[in-house]
Amino acid sequence: MDAVRPGQNPGRTRACSLRVSVVLVRLIRAYLRPYTRTITLIVLLQLVQTLATLYLPTLNADIIDDGVVKGDTGYILTTGGLMVAVTLVQIVCAICAVYFGARTAMALGRDIRADVFDRVQSFSAREMGRFGAPSLITRTTNDVQQVQMLCLMSFTLMVSAPIMCVGGIAMALNQDVPLSGLLLLIVPVLGITVTLIVRRMRPLFRHVQERIDTVNRVLREQITGIRVIRAFVRDGHERTRFTGANAALMDVSLRAGRLMSLMFPTVMLVVNLSSVAVVWAGGHRIDSGGMQIGALTAFISYLMQILTSVMMATFMFMMVPRAEVCAERVQEVLDTGTSVVPPLKPVALPAGGGRGLLELRGVEFRYPGAEEPVLRDISLTAHPGRTTAVIGSTGSGKSTLLGLVPRLFDVTDGSVHLDGVDVRDLDPAVMSRSIGLVPQKPYLFSGTVASNLRYGNPDATDEELWRALETAQARDFVEAMEGGLEAPIAQGGSNVSGGQRQRLAIARALVLKPSVYLFDDSFSALDYATDARLRAALTDETGEATVVIVAQRVSTIRGADRIVVLDEGRVVGSGTHGELMDGNQTYREIVLSQLTEQEAA
Ligand SMILES: Nc1ncnc2c1ncn2[C@@H]1O[C@H](COP(=O)(O)OP(=O)(O)O)[C@@H](O)[C@H]1O
Ligand SMILES: [Mg+2]
Repeated sequence: MDAVRPGQNPGRTRACSLRVSVVLVRLIRAYLRPYTRTITLIVLLQLVQTLATLYLPTLNADIIDDGVVKGDTGYILTTGGLMVAVTLVQIVCAICAVYFGARTAMALGRDIRADVFDRVQSFSAREMGRFGAPSLITRTTNDVQQVQMLCLMSFTLMVSAPIMCVGGIAMALNQDVPLSGLLLLIVPVLGITVTLIVRRMRPLFRHVQERIDTVNRVLREQITGIRVIRAFVRDGHERTRFTGANAALMDVSLRAGRLMSLMFPTVMLVVNLSSVAVVWAGGHRIDSGGMQIGALTAFISYLMQILTSVMMATFMFMMVPRAEVCAERVQEVLDTGTSVVPPLKPVALPAGGGRGLLELRGVEFRYPGAEEPVLRDISLTAHPGRTTAVIGSTGSGKSTLLGLVPRLFDVTDGSVHLDGVDVRDLDPAVMSRSIGLVPQKPYLFSGTVASNLRYGNPDATDEELWRALETAQARDFVEAMEGGLEAPIAQGGSNVSGGQRQRLAIARALVLKPSVYLFDDSFSALDYATDARLRAALTDETGEATVVIVAQRVSTIRGADRIVVLDEGRVVGSGTHGELMDGNQTYREIVLSQLTEQEAA
């Protein structure tokens, strides 16, 4: 029942670099498959474009040698005209190639992002916990973008750089064979110089990525925890922490930058020294009548083209290690299966729809990696039309218990049944309509009050929304908000108070009209009077539905049809308030810690 963990592949360390490159190539190939025709077009355009570039210096040499030297104006004009035409072809091809290349690379990014998103949507809390939200966000955005950039670069360079290099050498040979001997020296010198620098840059780039992550993490934590930081007056400490992370990033970026700035002068030195050598050697050849002036200018142009292609190729290889890391991170998400597997043969509920009979049969649950189960051998039944309450101290497993019903996690033993169907076999669509969970920490989405209330039931009318708000004791404050139902809600519901957020979450569940309501400590932020009014209104509204209320406050649950007492993950008692007061020590202790003997009676 263990989730797939591709990151923990045993052969990983040994074959690491090899495996990663395979991942990058596999990822790109898989996602470029739908665009094969466009890519063929790009390759053709690049081919024409490069050939045109290669042809130009030869034409130029012809103008000098056959036109200028011989004073043939007609020849100069026609060949010049040809050069203009070739240049136009080159320009058009280059623009089209970049246009289609950019489109394809962006499409690739979009497709990968969509798949990563779909995959993440299927994750249960277990997989979410493994990756963590910040990492999943970076993987979906930044990491995909790096792969996308590499693709864009390769569309431009993969074709043109090799042709330019080989073609350049051929054309140079065509101009003058003895002079081309110099290339045997110049090209390796440039190649080795650039490779030496790039090899030192690769590890630095990996560090840059990691330290960007650190800065993100620290910043994220500080923005989220700003209230705690203020309350504990830890601004100074946090500032130091951020400065540290920030300085570390600057340090490694500077080192990478220094190497980068070393690169250009070094490359230019090689290039310029080569030109001097070519001009010097070529001058002697012209002097001795073995070569023409035009041929020398063409030769120098080809030399530049060859060196440029070598440089561009090296730059591309510089991007590869970063893209490799990113591809691996993306692929890891894509390869991770969810531990809450959707049913193979989804079962719809019996005809006439479910009534909401909820049964837990011998349920055990163990968090991944935990030694002890959090819940043990829990069997209980919640009946339609009745209120079942669960009480227990913090950490006794109440929230975990509720989470098993809508399959936030799957049980590790036993089973949960809704109207006789194991929830693991239940059609997810039926499940989402049947279960209304109000989580302990309710989350509201950015949008409006109405968009949040309609989250589970997009067709609800305004009247239905107001009715739900009324029951949830939220009508007054929503009416007071500017815009009423259309009042804006900030991300996470941060512009309303904790108690208001709870009541909006309750209203959201009411709008869904499910057959099972699960309230996880949903009344804790309310004062006693509001709590009481809300529960009275709820009883009318929930009618024939099954209601499960988790609470720590005795007054909230004492009127329930049945109370289940949970202690350290076990059911230690169940019955009405009166029955439990008589016969259950744990319950008595909880009650008497909150109420006096008279109040409890
Ligand atoms: N995501 C998690 N991973 C590991 N352990 C957890 C996780 N969530 C809760 N627990 C553990 O499970 C126990 C029960 O937690 P919970 O169900 O939230 O209790 P309650 O809602 O009754 O306060 C606690 O001891 C807690 O430490
Ligand atoms: Mg809880």
